[in-house]
Amino acid sequence: MTMSCLATDQAESLRKLAGRAKTTEAPEQFQVREGLRVISVTSGKGGVGKTSVVVNLAASLAASGQRVLIVDCNPGIGDICLRLGKDAPFRMGQVLAGDITLRDTVVELGGGVSVLPAGMEMQQYSALSPWERSALLKAMLRLQNDFDCFLIDTGSGMAANLTGFAALAREIMLVVTPEPTSITDAYALIKMLSGRDSSFRFRLLINMCRDNQEGETLFSKLAAITGRFLQVEFDHAGTILHDELLVESVRRRGALCRLFPDAKASAGFKKLAHKINAERPAGAGAMPAASVASSTMWRNHELSS
Ligand SMILES: Nc1ncnc2c1ncn2[C@@H]1O[C@H](COP(=O)(O)OP(=O)(O)O)[C@@H](O)[C@H]1O
Ligand SMILES: [Mg+2]
Repeated sequence: MTMSCLATDQAESLRKLAGRAKTTEAPEQFQVREGLRVISVTSGKGGVGKTSVVVNLAASLAASGQRVLIVDCNPGIGDICLRLGKDAPFRMGQVLAGDITLRDTVVELGGGVSVLPAGMEMQQYSALSPWERSALLKAMLRLQNDFDCFLIDTGSGMAANLTGFAALAREIMLVVTPEPTSITDAYALIKMLSGRDSSFRFRLLINMCRDNQEGETLFSKLAAITGRFLQVEFDHAGTILHDELLVESVRRRGALCRLFPDAKASAGFKKLAHKINAERPAGAGAMPAASVASSTMWRNHELSS
């Protein structure tokens, strides 16, 4: 099947999914229920620990009683079900084809955490029209009463995914490591995001640090630079220490926080979950259709990782 065929079929399926004919009118508003947290976890560069953060933050939030849905936009080997050794019998492609509902694709990981294995199809998300995206977001919102938190693993540098979900997620957690390329790529992503929409709540999570002091220092430097040149303010989400046990947890296909609750990185994830639980969600309620419409501007703005 050619790409254009695929795109046409996909568009047709999305129209079915939304249950109405394609029009040029603006998409409707998205009603995110009061109290639902929707947090996008992202980075400028790949390999900085986004998926590790999502998996362990989900486990920590669930341990505190939250029902968490991970929305996995990782293509291929970054796939969360694969990483955790879980089968994902259904895929988003089948939802787009109208064969099953989005709810059918949800995989339960146990302990209050579930995954929506969006995977490969989300790579094509940026190719969907605003109207088509809205159909997908509406299908996601039908799941919102079953969960307290959506954690979106956006994939690295996926600006289109990020802004596509902007209609739902006003909270962005940017993962950065002390590596120079991670810092420059994070700066580039912040610059692009802040230029488009100033209503996000940005959090910076510093991962793979030698010690907490290294995290504090890096946060202060980045916050000073972005404040001065981009007029963007961040919350410091926290510091996660470099921990060989995290690598071991990946090898064992589990969450660090469950396999090694006393590991030094587990402490960082627990603290992060505690901090998130203590805050009010940003931007709960109706999101303007403009958030989705304006995301077309982002289509061709994927950052390389
Ligand atoms: N705090 C950490 N300490 C040690 N290794 C880590 C840490 N965070 C992530 N890693 C390792 O880095 C690699 C990339 O992490 P991953 O979460 O897949 O990144 P991303 O999703 O950003 O591509 C993985 O092998 C993971 O085990
Ligand atoms: Mg990943």
